[in-house]
Amino acid sequence: MNFISKLPDVGTTIFTIMSQMAEDYKAINLSQGYPDYDPPLELKERLNWHVNNGHNQYAPLAGIAALRQQCAFKIKEYYDRDVNWDTEVTITPGATEAIYCAITAIVQPGDEVIMFDPVYDCYDPAVRLSGGVPIHLKLCSPEYSIDWRQVESAISSKTKVIIVNFPHNPTGSIMSDDDMMQLEEIAVKYDLVVISDEVYEHFVFDGKKHKSVLSSPKLAARSFAVFSFGKSFHATGWKTGYVVASALLTKELRAVHQFVTFVAFTPVQFALADYMASNPEHLQSLPSFYEKKRDIFCSALKESRFIIKPSKGTFFQLADYSRIADVPDKVYAEYLTQEVGVAAIPISVFFDDPDSESSRVVRFCFCKEDDTLASAAKLLCAL
Ligand SMILES: Cc1ncc(COP(=O)(O)O)c(C=O)c1O
Repeated sequence: MNFISKLPDVGTTIFTIMSQMAEDYKAINLSQGYPDYDPPLELKERLNWHVNNGHNQYAPLAGIAALRQQCAFKIKEYYDRDVNWDTEVTITPGATEAIYCAITAIVQPGDEVIMFDPVYDCYDPAVRLSGGVPIHLKLCSPEYSIDWRQVESAISSKTKVIIVNFPHNPTGSIMSDDDMMQLEEIAVKYDLVVISDEVYEHFVFDGKKHKSVLSSPKLAARSFAVFSFGKSFHATGWKTGYVVASALLTKELRAVHQFVTFVAFTPVQFALADYMASNPEHLQSLPSFYEKKRDIFCSALKESRFIIKPSKGTFFQLADYSRIADVPDKVYAEYLTQEVGVAAIPISVFFDDPDSESSRVVRFCFCKEDDTLASAAKLLCAL
């Protein structure tokens, strides 16, 4: 057959590889970002109820009204923005589909799209599939923050989109007020569309608050803000998310979404709408729920030889193993999984740049039962 692969360099994601390896070697899986506990019981019961009471056919393209209304209430409460639930909120089968549709809707062949390494893996391939050019800049260590002067010097007449992801996977860094101001200034000055991946919006620790692009009127007007119910309701396998964008941008997003998946899974939408309406405290409880897990994991690792700087957000914790071993992180992650019994993700896979092979850092995921975290930490402390 005569065809040219569109993504010749893309193989199976590291998340799938490490989870499979964890299963094969019976290792504690702190690699892929999903909980080892269930969604709230009432939410599962609502899903069951809707499946058994006739909510099993296509939802409207943009999602059911009740859930979009709940999203609009939430945006008002958390980010003080009035959004029109009908024209500005779209329910999608996960944040990944939302990001794909936003990129596909906006990026034309030759357009440059700025993103920051270490970068979540779904942005770059989506840009390339649209004929766009990913421009990989690096977050600055040790804080993993954006160097805005570097951003400005990377902007050309072809730059169309900037993708930001805070709280950040894999580093756990968060945005400051100054970052938000700089993003606003640059996006307006260079007329950029912003795709803001905010799937970890509720996982910000130490009394800090998440900064959403939706809190800034100028950014809200030119952004797709992307969220994930999967993360916020401990239900990553339900693959349901949503996008908030101006009516103008939403129209373009929906034009793509209708031919990618058309709609998201119906009974989950009804269940989430019910649960959000009757349990507003669920989202409020998430920062302390995950902060406690971070603290359990980090204090259990205090006695280890890993160098740990507690994560500021997300459910990920980076760990520097340079005091323990001097091998590339992919080799070390495999060793941890196969020989030690704890699966982790090497962070070099989040970089475009081959120099990242010199990284001596792995990512652990702490959205696990406290006992799971304690057992994993015990094994890691023995190294
Ligand atoms: C930064 C980031 N964005 C998007 C996603 C995908 O979210 P969803 O499962 O809702 O598609 C993830 C999942 O791990 C993520 O870490």
